[in-house]
Amino acid sequence: MKKEEIFFRNARISDALAISKLIKRNLVGAKINKYTLEQVRGIAQKNTVKEIRERIKKFKVFCALEKGKLIGTVYFGEVYPKENNIGGLYIDPAFLYLGVGKKLLHLVEKYARKKKVRRIDLYALNYSKDFYLRNGYKINKVYMWKVGKAKTRTYGMEKNLK
Ligand SMILES: CC(C)(COP(=O)(O)OP(=O)(O)OC[C@H]1O[C@@H](n2cnc3c(N)ncnc32)[C@H](O)[C@@H]1OP(=O)(O)O)[C@@H](O)C(=O)NCCC(=O)NCCS
Repeated sequence: MKKEEIFFRNARISDALAISKLIKRNLVGAKINKYTLEQVRGIAQKNTVKEIRERIKKFKVFCALEKGKLIGTVYFGEVYPKENNIGGLYIDPAFLYLGVGKKLLHLVEKYARKKKVRRIDLYALNYSKDFYLRNGYKINKVYMWKVGKAKTRTYGMEKNLK
């Protein structure tokens, strides 16, 4: 994929449906996090169009597009009890391992730096933990996160921004 074909911008309220659909595509199609059906349902419930609309109003949400189609998203905002969280980083299953996730991560980190944020926190599942480790994050805590009825090992991770 050519660099100039991917376009990054702030999310608009009207992107909520496409973001919600992208997250569902990732959950069902990517087969990387090996979610159970219960977990897919639980995560999808946290990413309905209504939830995403609220997220776009409250947080900074970014989109990656290829030929006008949404292929990636990420947000920066508050996830209790931490204030400076990166979350909701999802890439379309057809565009994994092409550098889009890394670019979105750099974009959101650049935004945080501009806001004078010195430390980023995030929660990662087993698969994405390695992606974040490669990108300078370290693990500070291991949780069992309850999604629906299922519990999943989740890693609290952090990075000091320079
Ligand atoms: C994790 C995720 C966002 C990575 O996106 P991506 O666009 O495929 O990643 P990139 O192509 O930008 O990869 C950047 C680097 O990380 C590496 N990488 C990507 N995914 C990786 C993984 N799961 N484990 C280890 N390394 C990984 C790439 O090889 C690349 O390495 P390089 O810089 O040495 O070339 C994507 O796999 C995804 O959508 N996962 C499912 C949703 C999820 O778990 N999101 C996180 C919740 S907050």
